[in-house]
Amino acid sequence: MPKPLHLIVACAENRVIGRGGKLPWHIPEDTKHFHRETAGQIVVLGRVCFETWPRAALDGRRPIVITRNTALDGETVKIAANLGDALTAAESLPGKIMICGGERIYTETLALAEATGRALILDLTLIHAEVPGDTFMPEWRHLAWRETARREGADDHFRYTFLTLER
Ligand SMILES: NC(=O)c1ccc[n+]([C@@H]2O[C@H](COP(=O)([O-])OP(=O)(O)OC[C@H]3O[C@@H](n4cnc5c(N)ncnc54)[C@H](OP(=O)(O)O)[C@@H]3O)[C@@H](O)[C@H]2O)c1
Repeated sequence: MPKPLHLIVACAENRVIGRGGKLPWHIPEDTKHFHRETAGQIVVLGRVCFETWPRAALDGRRPIVITRNTALDGETVKIAANLGDALTAAESLPGKIMICGGERIYTETLALAEATGRALILDLTLIHAEVPGDTFMPEWRHLAWRETARREGADDHFRYTFLTLER
């Protein structure tokens, strides 16, 4: 049995996840949640996400960066040419497979899980706002999920819900 895929994302109600190569919000509680959940795990991410996340290779994380840029390959950071190669590499490493985006990687992961029936855990921070942006989470709400955890949160700018959904 291949490992389940954990997809971790913070997403606005209009599915926006990014703007101008960055997060469109600063939500300290969500940043902490993301760092805590990914510490010690395998993190699969696109090149832009990797370049904007200085802690990707810290706290015991094992990054697998999907990119054509072979110069990024090294001791602590592995590269893969596509999602399939990244998941093959991840099977032989210790830890959970945490899919950290961006847009195309989330889209391909959802499609792969749907096509193969592979177990998928969606660790979603749903931000209860319509936020302007240029990068999107693919639609997930039409799929059948089991909700296994829910916690509400808020700061001065946003209300949000930490959800764990499984299928
Ligand atoms: N809110 C959240 O939870 C969250 C999570 C992740 C990202 N984001 C936001 O999303 C934006 C970054 O995401 P992005 O979608 O623009 O970029 P990205 O996926 O991080 O990086 C894009 C690059 O990664 C490589 N790549 C990605 N998918 C690939 C695939 N399936 N096959 C082969 N190569 C692939 C290519 O690299 P090369 O050009 O090097 O070949 C591509 O140019 C930022 O704004 C970030 O803040 C938000």
